Amino acid sequence: MLGINLEYAERVKQLPIYIFVEIEQLIAEGRKKGIDFIPLGIGDPDLNTPEFIVNEMIEQATVPTNQNYPSSMGEDFYREAVAMWNKKRYGVDLDPKTEVSHVMGGKEGVANIARVFVNPGDIVLCPNPGYPVYANGATKLCDGVPYLMPLKKENGFLPKLKEIDVMILRKAKLMYLNYPNNPTGAIASREFLKEVSDYAEDYNFLIIYDNPYSEFTFEDYIAPSILQLDNNHVEINSASKMFNMTGFRCGWIAGNAEIIKGIRKVKSQIDSGGPIFIQKAVVKGLNLYRSEEKPDIIAKNIAIYEKRRNALVNGLNDIGWKTDLPKATFYIWTKIPDKYSNLTCMDFVKKLIEIGVIVTPGTGFGEYGEGFVRFALTQPLERIKEALERINKLMN
Ligand SMILES: Cc1ncc(COP(=O)(O)O)c(C=O)c1O
Repeated sequence: MLGINLEYAERVKQLPIYIFVEIEQLIAEGRKKGIDFIPLGIGDPDLNTPEFIVNEMIEQATVPTNQNYPSSMGEDFYREAVAMWNKKRYGVDLDPKTEVSHVMGGKEGVANIARVFVNPGDIVLCPNPGYPVYANGATKLCDGVPYLMPLKKENGFLPKLKEIDVMILRKAKLMYLNYPNNPTGAIASREFLKEVSDYAEDYNFLIIYDNPYSEFTFEDYIAPSILQLDNNHVEINSASKMFNMTGFRCGWIAGNAEIIKGIRKVKSQIDSGGPIFIQKAVVKGLNLYRSEEKPDIIAKNIAIYEKRRNALVNGLNDIGWKTDLPKATFYIWTKIPDKYSNLTCMDFVKKLIEIGVIVTPGTGFGEYGEGFVRFALTQPLERIKEALERINKLMN
């Protein structure tokens, strides 16, 4: 190896370790000690991909023409189905020829859209706590500068746009926004989205509306799309959570044609698209939509999450936590209990790992997440109840 320069680029050196990687290391050590873990950390649904979707995939995989390179922007039939879904779900008209692109999961779209627009030093407005890819994989890997918009409980976990310096807003190129929100479970009203779209127009930045939890809403709340209010921007969504397909990596980005042209240009130089048989199968799921109403297979899953949500939130409150019921997502974002408020959230998470309960520390989503932890409702009710029993022992 002598003489080979192994020094990483500065933009890679500045990246933190992806939070789940660090937690995985702790869990691996615990497993060696024989701890039975209840994983409520990562947001990966335990519910299965619907059988009819898997069957379609198997059948389509055997078709020879589906075994060749796909197109990086997605097949015609796929983009048409995404446009149709947007029409039925949101009443939004999109031209599948120019206003839709396939992405290999929302994560890829979130990261690659920055490559289209961000020059070195450009400011990107990123919610914090927030999905870590906005600031890291997207902004920093393009030599951009994330500006952290704090999401505070007292503001309903919405960014306070008035508090952002006008100079920052003027220099901002993009804003990432995500409601229903990971990690806080918060939702945004149409009035708030209108306010953001007015700011975007006044200060000339693009909104990347990341909406993978659009379908995970409780009671009668239906999540809106930014495209219903303003078609200058783009929205990203995927089959990952909608159809429990995180492992299949299939999503889309839709909206303003000039933005879509840019992402297609970038992607055509990087990837060769997602497997056609997976796109075919996702279309089967999308075609279930007739209106904004959730099809049965999704409604059934929401009912499961709702039971888990109620059990966990009520259970935590019964043992001295102060936890709110979220209106959306399958996450519970809560302050660490008073008894442990002297600990950092990472140290508190380590305590939970010792008793076999895995949650995500708030700081995994950025510095404004300190003092909080996130539970993902991705385990059966009995396991959630067991986690509560174990946590109860820590509270006495
Ligand atoms: C806010 C947010 N955006 C995007 C993603 C990416 O999801 P996927 O790449 O599986 O579509 C996730 C996944 O957890 C997320 O929480």
